[in-house]
Amino acid sequence: MTPITVRVPAKLNLQLAVGPPRADGYHDLVTVFHAVSLYDEVTVCPAGRDGVTVTGEWADRVPGGQDNLALRAVAALRAVLAGRPGAGSRSGGSRSGGGSGSGEGNVQITIAKRIPVAAGLAGGSADAAAALVACNELWASGLTQAELGRVGATVGSDVAFAVLGGTAVGRGRGEQLTPALVPATRYHWVLAFADGQLPTPGVYAALDRLRAARDAQPGEPDLDAELMSALRCGDAALVGKKLSNDLQPAAISLFPALRKTLAAGLELGALGALVAGSGPTCAFLAPNAERALALAVSLSGAGVCRSVARVSGPVPGAAVVPAGS
Ligand code: C5P
Repeated sequence: MTPITVRVPAKLNLQLAVGPPRADGYHDLVTVFHAVSLYDEVTVCPAGRDGVTVTGEWADRVPGGQDNLALRAVAALRAVLAGRPGAGSRSGGSRSGGGSGSGEGNVQITIAKRIPVAAGLAGGSADAAAALVACNELWASGLTQAELGRVGATVGSDVAFAVLGGTAVGRGRGEQLTPALVPATRYHWVLAFADGQLPTPGVYAALDRLRAARDAQPGEPDLDAELMSALRCGDAALVGKKLSNDLQPAAISLFPALRKTLAAGLELGALGALVAGSGPTCAFLAPNAERALALAVSLSGAGVCRSVARVSGPVPGAAVVPAGS
């Protein structure tokens, strides 16, 4: 059986408004997700047992075994499919992927990693989303994008968005998505990758601590109407001014060098700057592709980050790469 390869983007949060901690340990969010053109490629093929191999610059930082989100996504999809009416007869009860071509058999997952790990870009969630889309194809399961998103949400808060892509408002843990009705404006970004990682739970905990120390308990998070209006106008300068991330002070408290990185990008002409998600990647919005190139060159010369990448958005979510391309 031919392996299936899926390309999946990283995400930025143009707004990330975080409410108080919930009883389950998560925080209610209102966020504006934005998929950008930095991709992992995930290939699945039938195998004797489930396994994952990772290649690329960040490979040694990706967890293996059951801590790997792509493997967990495959297990979650298999469980959902096994619960569907007629599942037993469809799969013939077979768990072997050894080329039989039937059922939800075992798979070998290969991740070509370009999205840095624990960097605030939802790289792990992206791989989970890609594994879902790939197995849906490999097993001819016929789940819709929305159904795959719901399976993904059981694996991680950002997985549903990586399936959907584009620009979308996320609520709840981030898994309740509404595509943003905005024109097809292309935004040009420079990403500054940090020399280090930040664990997402640690950044949320730091935010709770900072708020407690200031006795500043947040209300329910709200969508920024001005950001949405800037996106509807396709006005990059205004979008740049309205970028916001409640996790940014927490990320900076844990990784103080980010302050210098953000300041450098703004001095070098970025329309706006923010920490990506829980960090430590910083994202800079440029007025156009040319200025993004100049900004990337200057930032990498300024010695304020490990490396830089130019990306644009929005781009579609996880999608199968046509065979032979
Ligand atoms: O859902 P996911 O596994 O990506 O979340 C990782 C961690 O980030 C959670 O365990 C939690 O500590 C934190 N988180 C949160 N509120 C959210 C999303 C994530 O507190 N809405």
